[in-house]
Amino acid sequence: MSFWHTGTVIHGYGNGQKFGFPTANLLPDSPVGLEKGVYAVRVRVDGKCHKGMLYVGTRPTLKLDTLTFEIHIFNFRRKIYHERIAFSIVAKIRDEKRFQSTEELVRAIEADSAAIRGLLRAPEHALAKTSHLQSIMTIIGQAKARMGAQHIDQWQDGYPNEESIITDINKKQGHVFVKDHQVVAYAAIVHGKDPYYENIDGQWLTNDNYITVHRIAIHNDFLHRGYADHIIRYAEKYAKKQGIPSFRIDTHHDNLFMRNLIRNNGFTYCGIVQVRDGERLAYEKPLL
Ligand SMILES: Cc1cc2nc3c(=O)[nH]c(=O)nc-3n(C[C@H](O)[C@H](O)[C@H](O)COP(=O)(O)O)c2cc1C
Repeated sequence: MSFWHTGTVIHGYGNGQKFGFPTANLLPDSPVGLEKGVYAVRVRVDGKCHKGMLYVGTRPTLKLDTLTFEIHIFNFRRKIYHERIAFSIVAKIRDEKRFQSTEELVRAIEADSAAIRGLLRAPEHALAKTSHLQSIMTIIGQAKARMGAQHIDQWQDGYPNEESIITDINKKQGHVFVKDHQVVAYAAIVHGKDPYYENIDGQWLTNDNYITVHRIAIHNDFLHRGYADHIIRYAEKYAKKQGIPSFRIDTHHDNLFMRNLIRNNGFTYCGIVQVRDGERLAYEKPLL
Protein backbone atom coordinates (compact mmCIF):
# COMPACT_ATOMS: atom_id res chain seq x y z
CA MET A 1 0.00 0.00 0.00
CA SER A 2 1.28 3.50 -0.73
CA PHE A 3 2.62 5.33 2.30
CA TRP A 4 1.44 8.93 2.61
CA HIS A 5 3.66 11.48 4.38
CA THR A 6 1.74 14.47 5.74
CA GLY A 7 2.74 18.03 6.56
CA THR A 8 1.87 21.71 6.48
CA VAL A 9 2.83 24.15 3.71
CA ILE A 10 5.05 26.98 4.96
CA HIS A 11 6.60 30.05 3.28
CA GLY A 12 9.87 29.56 1.37
CA TYR A 13 12.12 32.26 -0.11
CA GLY A 14 10.06 32.55 -3.28
CA ASN A 15 12.95 31.57 -5.59
CA GLY A 16 10.95 28.72 -7.07
CA GLN A 17 8.47 31.19 -8.53
CA LYS A 18 11.34 33.09 -10.23
CA PHE A 19 12.64 29.83 -11.70
CA GLY A 20 9.26 29.02 -13.22
CA PHE A 21 8.69 26.12 -10.80
CA PRO A 22 6.86 27.43 -7.73
CA THR A 23 7.14 24.98 -4.86
CA ALA A 24 5.17 24.29 -1.72
CA ASN A 25 7.69 24.15 1.14
CA LEU A 26 6.58 21.47 3.52
CA LEU A 27 6.97 21.12 7.27
CA PRO A 28 6.49 17.36 7.70
CA ASP A 29 4.41 16.08 10.64
CA SER A 30 6.98 13.41 11.42
CA PRO A 31 10.52 12.55 10.26
CA VAL A 32 10.33 11.67 6.57
CA GLY A 33 13.53 9.62 6.37
CA LEU A 34 14.26 10.27 2.69
CA GLU A 35 17.72 10.72 1.17
CA LYS A 36 18.45 14.06 -0.46
CA GLY A 37 17.40 14.13 -4.10
CA VAL A 38 14.51 14.54 -6.50
CA TYR A 39 11.44 12.26 -6.47
CA ALA A 40 8.33 11.67 -8.57
CA VAL A 41 5.40 11.97 -6.16
CA ARG A 42 1.67 11.89 -5.95
CA VAL A 43 0.28 14.74 -3.86
CA ARG A 44 -3.05 14.98 -2.07
CA VAL A 45 -4.42 18.51 -1.61
CA ASP A 46 -7.90 19.00 -0.22
CA GLY A 47 -8.83 15.36 -0.90
CA LYS A 48 -7.74 15.54 -4.57
CA CYS A 49 -4.78 13.68 -6.02
CA HIS A 50 -2.18 15.49 -8.17
CA LYS A 51 1.17 14.64 -9.71
CA GLY A 52 4.33 16.44 -8.75
CA MET A 53 8.05 16.46 -8.01
CA LEU A 54 9.61 16.59 -4.57
CA TYR A 55 13.03 18.01 -3.83
CA VAL A 56 14.67 17.02 -0.56
CA GLY A 57 17.88 18.92 0.13
CA THR A 58 19.66 22.00 1.39
CA ARG A 59 19.76 23.94 -1.95
CA PRO A 60 23.57 24.04 -2.20
CA THR A 61 23.39 25.87 -5.55
CA LEU A 62 21.88 28.84 -3.71
CA LYS A 63 24.44 28.43 -0.89
CA LEU A 64 21.72 27.55 1.60
CA ASP A 65 22.17 24.83 4.20
CA THR A 66 18.90 23.95 5.94
CA LEU A 67 17.16 20.77 4.88
CA THR A 68 13.92 21.52 3.03
CA PHE A 69 11.11 19.51 1.49
CA GLU A 70 9.74 21.31 -1.56
CA ILE A 71 7.03 20.06 -3.86
CA HIS A 72 6.21 21.43 -7.29
CA ILE A 73 2.70 20.26 -8.22
CA PHE A 74 2.06 20.00 -11.97
CA ASN A 75 -0.73 22.16 -13.43
CA PHE A 76 -1.54 23.68 -10.06
CA ARG A 77 -1.78 27.42 -9.39
CA ARG A 78 -3.60 27.93 -6.11
CA LYS A 79 -1.63 29.28 -3.12
CA ILE A 80 -1.81 26.70 -0.34
CA TYR A 81 0.13 28.28 2.52
CA HIS A 82 -0.80 26.81 5.92
CA GLU A 83 -2.78 23.98 4.30
CA ARG A 84 -2.11 20.38 5.20
CA ILE A 85 -1.10 18.17 2.29
CA ALA A 86 0.12 14.59 1.84
CA PHE A 87 2.58 13.04 -0.59
CA SER A 88 3.48 9.53 -1.60
CA ILE A 89 6.77 8.60 -3.27
CA VAL A 90 6.61 6.90 -6.68
CA ALA A 91 10.32 6.83 -7.55
CA LYS A 92 13.61 8.61 -6.94
CA ILE A 93 14.87 10.39 -10.07
CA ARG A 94 18.30 11.67 -9.11
CA ASP A 95 20.57 12.83 -6.27
CA GLU A 96 20.84 16.42 -5.13
CA LYS A 97 23.51 18.43 -6.97
CA ARG A 98 25.38 21.65 -6.50
CA PHE A 99 25.12 23.41 -9.87
CA GLN A 100 27.56 26.06 -11.14
CA SER A 101 24.77 28.56 -11.83
CA THR A 102 21.05 29.03 -11.33
CA GLU A 103 20.63 28.66 -15.14
CA GLU A 104 22.07 25.16 -14.88
CA LEU A 105 19.80 24.41 -11.91
CA VAL A 106 16.73 25.57 -13.86
CA ARG A 107 17.73 23.40 -16.85
CA ALA A 108 18.07 20.42 -14.51
CA ILE A 109 14.63 21.09 -12.97
CA GLU A 110 13.15 21.31 -16.51
CA ALA A 111 14.69 17.94 -17.32
CA ASP A 112 13.32 16.51 -14.01
CA SER A 113 9.89 17.82 -14.94
CA ALA A 114 9.93 16.12 -18.36
CA ALA A 115 11.19 12.82 -16.90
CA ILE A 116 8.68 12.81 -14.05
CA ARG A 117 5.70 13.75 -16.25
CA GLY A 118 6.61 10.82 -18.51
CA LEU A 119 6.94 8.46 -15.57
CA LEU A 120 3.61 9.52 -14.05
CA ARG A 121 1.69 9.65 -17.33
CA ALA A 122 -1.43 7.47 -17.04
CA PRO A 123 -1.32 4.18 -18.97
CA GLU A 124 -3.25 3.80 -22.20
CA HIS A 125 -6.29 1.60 -22.41
CA ALA A 126 -7.12 -1.29 -24.78
CA LEU A 127 -9.59 -4.15 -24.85
CA ALA A 128 -7.72 -7.33 -23.85
CA LYS A 129 -6.86 -9.76 -26.65
CA THR A 130 -5.62 -13.35 -26.60
CA SER A 131 -2.14 -12.03 -27.39
CA HIS A 132 -2.17 -10.28 -23.98
CA LEU A 133 -3.04 -13.46 -22.07
CA GLN A 134 0.48 -14.34 -20.90
CA SER A 135 1.21 -10.79 -19.71
CA ILE A 136 -2.13 -10.69 -17.91
CA MET A 137 -1.48 -14.04 -16.17
CA THR A 138 1.96 -12.80 -15.06
CA ILE A 139 0.39 -9.72 -13.47
CA ILE A 140 -2.38 -11.76 -11.85
CA GLY A 141 0.25 -14.18 -10.50
CA GLN A 142 2.13 -11.24 -8.96
CA ALA A 143 -1.05 -9.88 -7.36
CA LYS A 144 -1.86 -13.33 -5.90
CA ALA A 145 1.65 -13.57 -4.43
CA ARG A 146 1.39 -10.08 -2.89
CA MET A 147 -1.95 -10.92 -1.26
CA GLY A 148 -0.54 -14.22 0.03
CA ALA A 149 2.45 -12.39 1.53
CA GLN A 150 0.04 -10.00 3.28
CA HIS A 151 -2.03 -12.97 4.58
CA ILE A 152 -5.08 -11.79 2.67
CA ASP A 153 -7.21 -14.83 1.95
CA GLN A 154 -8.25 -13.61 -1.50
CA TRP A 155 -7.18 -15.22 -4.82
CA GLN A 156 -5.34 -17.98 -2.90
CA ASP A 157 -7.32 -20.86 -4.44
CA GLY A 158 -6.34 -20.66 -8.11
CA TYR A 159 -8.90 -18.02 -9.13
CA PRO A 160 -8.65 -16.04 -11.38
CA ASN A 161 -7.18 -18.59 -13.80
CA GLU A 162 -6.57 -18.54 -17.56
CA GLU A 163 -10.12 -19.65 -18.15
CA SER A 164 -11.52 -16.62 -16.26
CA ILE A 165 -9.40 -14.26 -18.36
CA ILE A 166 -10.24 -15.99 -21.66
CA THR A 167 -13.93 -15.62 -20.75
CA ASP A 168 -13.33 -11.89 -20.09
CA ILE A 169 -11.59 -11.55 -23.46
CA ASN A 170 -14.37 -13.38 -25.33
CA LYS A 171 -17.05 -11.27 -23.66
CA LYS A 172 -15.05 -8.11 -24.45
CA GLN A 173 -15.00 -7.22 -20.76
CA GLY A 174 -11.25 -7.67 -20.21
CA HIS A 175 -9.28 -4.42 -20.25
CA VAL A 176 -5.51 -3.92 -20.34
CA PHE A 177 -3.66 -0.76 -19.38
CA VAL A 178 -0.46 -0.27 -21.34
CA LYS A 179 2.60 1.89 -20.71
CA ASP A 180 5.41 2.08 -23.29
CA HIS A 181 4.07 -1.08 -25.01
CA GLN A 182 4.03 -3.06 -21.76
CA VAL A 183 0.85 -4.34 -20.09
CA VAL A 184 1.01 -2.81 -16.60
CA ALA A 185 -2.49 -3.53 -15.28
CA TYR A 186 -5.60 -5.59 -15.92
CA ALA A 187 -9.26 -5.33 -14.96
CA ALA A 188 -12.58 -6.81 -16.01
CA ILE A 189 -15.36 -4.24 -16.40
CA VAL A 190 -18.61 -6.19 -16.33
CA HIS A 191 -22.05 -4.96 -17.29
CA GLY A 192 -24.94 -7.20 -16.31
CA LYS A 193 -26.40 -8.81 -13.22
CA ASP A 194 -23.82 -10.41 -10.97
CA PRO A 195 -25.45 -13.52 -9.41
CA TYR A 196 -23.40 -12.99 -6.23
CA TYR A 197 -24.97 -9.55 -5.82
CA GLU A 198 -28.54 -10.90 -5.89
CA ASN A 199 -28.57 -11.43 -2.13
CA ILE A 200 -27.03 -8.86 0.12
CA ASP A 201 -26.98 -8.70 3.88
CA GLY A 202 -27.72 -4.98 3.74
CA GLN A 203 -29.22 -2.83 1.03
CA TRP A 204 -28.07 -1.76 -2.43
CA LEU A 205 -28.70 1.90 -3.28
CA THR A 206 -30.24 1.41 -6.74
CA ASN A 207 -31.87 -1.26 -8.88
CA ASP A 208 -30.34 -3.68 -11.33
CA ASN A 209 -28.49 -1.71 -14.02
CA TYR A 210 -24.87 -1.39 -12.99
CA ILE A 211 -21.30 -2.14 -13.94
CA THR A 212 -18.84 -3.82 -11.67
CA VAL A 213 -15.06 -4.14 -11.80
CA HIS A 214 -13.43 -7.47 -11.00
CA ARG A 215 -9.96 -8.94 -11.23
CA ILE A 216 -8.01 -5.67 -10.87
CA ALA A 217 -4.29 -6.49 -10.90
CA ILE A 218 -1.25 -4.23 -11.19
CA HIS A 219 2.25 -5.23 -12.33
CA ASN A 220 4.82 -5.39 -9.48
CA ASP A 221 7.05 -2.79 -11.17
CA PHE A 222 4.20 -0.28 -11.47
CA LEU A 223 2.77 -0.17 -7.94
CA HIS A 224 2.21 3.11 -6.05
CA ARG A 225 1.48 5.04 -9.23
CA GLY A 226 -2.25 5.37 -8.74
CA TYR A 227 -3.10 2.88 -11.52
CA ALA A 228 -5.83 1.10 -9.51
CA ASP A 229 -7.40 4.50 -8.93
CA HIS A 230 -7.03 5.25 -12.65
CA ILE A 231 -8.86 1.99 -13.46
CA ILE A 232 -11.78 2.81 -11.15
CA ARG A 233 -12.08 6.28 -12.69
CA TYR A 234 -11.78 4.81 -16.19
CA ALA A 235 -14.58 2.31 -15.45
CA GLU A 236 -16.77 5.08 -14.08
CA LYS A 237 -16.32 7.17 -17.25
CA TYR A 238 -16.94 4.08 -19.40
CA ALA A 239 -20.24 3.42 -17.57
CA LYS A 240 -21.40 7.03 -17.78
CA LYS A 241 -20.68 7.13 -21.51
CA GLN A 242 -22.97 4.15 -21.98
CA GLY A 243 -25.67 5.59 -19.73
CA ILE A 244 -25.25 2.87 -17.08
CA PRO A 245 -26.60 4.44 -13.90
CA SER A 246 -24.59 2.71 -11.21
CA PHE A 247 -21.26 1.12 -10.27
CA ARG A 248 -20.98 -1.73 -7.75
CA ILE A 249 -17.84 -3.31 -6.37
CA ASP A 250 -16.84 -5.75 -3.63
CA THR A 251 -13.66 -6.56 -1.79
CA HIS A 252 -12.25 -8.71 0.98
CA HIS A 253 -12.43 -7.36 4.52
CA ASP A 254 -8.62 -7.63 4.87
CA ASN A 255 -7.85 -5.93 1.55
CA LEU A 256 -7.24 -2.49 3.05
CA PHE A 257 -5.75 -1.17 -0.18
CA MET A 258 -8.99 -1.84 -2.09
CA ARG A 259 -11.18 -0.67 0.80
CA ASN A 260 -9.35 2.69 0.86
CA LEU A 261 -9.46 2.99 -2.90
CA ILE A 262 -13.21 2.29 -2.97
CA ARG A 263 -13.93 4.75 -0.16
CA ASN A 264 -11.76 7.47 -1.71
CA ASN A 265 -13.68 7.10 -4.97
CA GLY A 266 -16.98 8.00 -3.30
CA PHE A 267 -18.62 4.56 -2.96
CA THR A 268 -21.11 3.84 -0.16
CA TYR A 269 -20.81 0.67 1.90
CA CYS A 270 -24.00 -1.37 1.35
CA GLY A 271 -23.50 -4.67 3.21
CA ILE A 272 -22.08 -8.18 2.89
CA VAL A 273 -22.36 -10.45 -0.15
CA GLN A 274 -21.39 -14.12 -0.44
CA VAL A 275 -19.14 -14.80 -3.41
CA ARG A 276 -17.49 -17.99 -4.71
CA ASP A 277 -15.14 -18.39 -1.74
CA GLY A 278 -16.63 -16.42 1.13
CA GLU A 279 -17.91 -13.08 2.33
CA ARG A 280 -17.08 -9.74 0.74
CA LEU A 281 -17.84 -6.14 1.62
CA ALA A 282 -20.12 -4.64 -1.05
CA TYR A 283 -20.26 -1.02 -2.18
CA GLU A 284 -22.20 1.05 -4.67
CA LYS A 285 -21.85 4.44 -6.34
CA PRO A 286 -24.84 5.81 -8.29
CA LEU A 287 -23.51 7.61 -11.40
CA LEU A 288 -26.34 9.57 -12.98
C1 LIG B 1 12.51 19.28 -8.89
C2 LIG B 1 13.49 20.15 -8.14
C3 LIG B 1 14.82 19.78 -8.12
C4 LIG B 1 15.77 20.56 -7.46
N1 LIG B 1 17.08 20.20 -7.44
C5 LIG B 1 17.99 20.95 -6.79
C6 LIG B 1 19.37 20.57 -6.77
O1 LIG B 1 19.77 19.51 -7.27
N2 LIG B 1 20.26 21.41 -6.17
C7 LIG B 1 19.85 22.56 -5.56
O2 LIG B 1 20.72 23.27 -5.05
N3 LIG B 1 18.55 22.93 -5.53
C8 LIG B 1 17.62 22.16 -6.15
N4 LIG B 1 16.30 22.54 -6.15
C9 LIG B 1 15.88 23.60 -5.24
C10 LIG B 1 15.74 24.95 -5.83
O3 LIG B 1 16.91 25.57 -5.53
C11 LIG B 1 14.54 25.52 -5.11
O4 LIG B 1 13.35 25.10 -5.72
C12 LIG B 1 14.57 26.99 -4.96
O5 LIG B 1 15.55 27.29 -4.05
C13 LIG B 1 13.24 27.57 -4.50
O6 LIG B 1 13.06 27.54 -3.15
P1 LIG B 1 12.16 28.64 -2.44
O7 LIG B 1 10.84 28.67 -3.18
O8 LIG B 1 12.00 28.18 -1.02
O9 LIG B 1 12.86 29.96 -2.54
C14 LIG B 1 15.35 21.75 -6.78
C15 LIG B 1 13.97 22.08 -6.79
C16 LIG B 1 13.06 21.31 -7.46
C17 LIG B 1 11.61 21.69 -7.46
